[in-house]
Amino acid sequence: MGEPTLLTKKQKFLAGVVCSLIVLELARLALSLLRMTENASPLAIVLGAVLNLTLLLKFLLPGWRPHRKWLGWLLAAGLVAPPLVVAPSFVKISQSGNNPMGPVGMIVLVSITFTLTMLLSPQFHLLRGIIRNKSTEKTAGKFSIVMLVIASLGLLLGDTTWYSVVFNTLISVGFTILYFTWPVLSRPILEKIEPIKENKPMQQIRFERTAAPKQKPDQSKLGFGNYFTDHMFLMNYDEGQGWHDPRIVPYGPIALDPAAMCLHYGQEVFEGMKAYFSVDGNIRLFRPEENMARLNLSNDRLCIPAIDEAFAVHAIEELVKTDRDWIPTQDGTSLYIRPFIFAVDPQVGVHPADHLIFCVILSPVGAYYPEGLNPIKIFVEENYVRAVKGGLGFTKAAANYASSLKAQQEAQAQGFSQVLWLDGVERRYIEEVGTMNVFFVFENEIVTPALQGSILGGITRKSCIAILRGWGYTVTERPLALEEVMDAAKAGQLKEAFGSGTAAVVCPIGALHCGGENLGVNNSEIGAITQRLYDELTGIQWGTIADTRGWTKVIG
Ligand SMILES: Cc1ncc(COP(=O)(O)O)c(C=O)c1O
Repeated sequence: MGEPTLLTKKQKFLAGVVCSLIVLELARLALSLLRMTENASPLAIVLGAVLNLTLLLKFLLPGWRPHRKWLGWLLAAGLVAPPLVVAPSFVKISQSGNNPMGPVGMIVLVSITFTLTMLLSPQFHLLRGIIRNKSTEKTAGKFSIVMLVIASLGLLLGDTTWYSVVFNTLISVGFTILYFTWPVLSRPILEKIEPIKENKPMQQIRFERTAAPKQKPDQSKLGFGNYFTDHMFLMNYDEGQGWHDPRIVPYGPIALDPAAMCLHYGQEVFEGMKAYFSVDGNIRLFRPEENMARLNLSNDRLCIPAIDEAFAVHAIEELVKTDRDWIPTQDGTSLYIRPFIFAVDPQVGVHPADHLIFCVILSPVGAYYPEGLNPIKIFVEENYVRAVKGGLGFTKAAANYASSLKAQQEAQAQGFSQVLWLDGVERRYIEEVGTMNVFFVFENEIVTPALQGSILGGITRKSCIAILRGWGYTVTERPLALEEVMDAAKAGQLKEAFGSGTAAVVCPIGALHCGGENLGVNNSEIGAITQRLYDELTGIQWGTIADTRGWTKVIG
């Protein structure tokens, strides 16, 4: 049996509205077809109903993205339907003897009426938004009110049967509610949500504000990880006491005993995430609870006591709010968030620590692609390995990054941007690219290596898979041999390749260098899917595209 679907009260209410609208729409369709008036067009009635029912399904299942071609046809239908409804009345008027405007005046009047009817239609605005990936629900809501007024005056259809007035009014009211509440909820109505965990009272965070705020850097020269904000979050773990003393304090050095275990045995884990200053003036975090869940996965593997994930997200929010003036606002910039935990027991001896520090620091970072997305050249690494099954590869442990430095340095010395990591046993299967997950677009399938223990489960990777599947692509997570990719590239069947990660979002791969052979991908140009994915993800992160999956957390 699957998990129960837990819906909030608002979601239940909206689900009720949508279901009632579906019933009303079907009833209106049946009645309209049964009681056709001479002015009505059966084609228009059916078109209108199909359009509304599709929109309702879209509301109920926002993860469902009908194919663009379908939407195009529906939009066309939506445009044609209103004129078809009013056309018979105009034909009648123009044929009658008392047409004072003459044929030209009639054509002008008809054109103006048709255009106005189309522009006033909320469905038109909603579909415009769906097709252009913009959030137009509120605009549709406003037009829905206009339509409601017109419909209630009985002006639009000239059809004043009791059922059309009742149905039009009820349906317009229902749609208006949906249009306006949708962006507020920004969560799929029938999305399965996690059962609410038992709520422990949150610890109080102590605040100590800096007395000497630093000068903020020039936003056009930020680079990555060069500047740090005025404050940091700290929390200690001591055996017997658990995690305690959460505090936001001025950013500065942390005193460590030279024997601190993290310095000797590398018991350290970290996370990487970002806060975005959105176009609507809000600050957004992208799936922060996923990062904290992954931090606990790393903690478990490195014998670090688990943190309270909800509290950690709360602490990050508080820190970001404290230093909100540091969030850069220029295009493509963001605030990088680095939570990390390290062992501080002053003891030279290999064992799990009893004393640790959880720290979060913030760094304003520049656009990753100031000159647009440039495909990178990749060196296929057949000598060094990053991780092996049973090791730390699936965690974000500092040790993984130490082991990657040598290969990266050598690849860069030869003019390559990153290395393509192969599995540590057979050196045959592709794992990651640099510090990113990797995707290959073949003719009928998009493949990303399956997470089998040595690959970090990227949050961007997870998001890319969901988006691509939502667009109707077949995305497979499976072992992917290097030779399969090379053969496909040689046969012209490798359409695109890209890396995915928080820093770059997606990074197009333009060429693979393997054993002296150089293979170009997509003529070293960014592919259409890579570009679309980049636009979609960054649109959600910067708040220019509606977040229908509830991925972003607005923190004010
Ligand atoms: C080794 C490695 N793989 C993959 C990723 C991508 O993970 P995410 O998408 O969560 O940033 C990262 C980035 O942090 C990484 O360091």
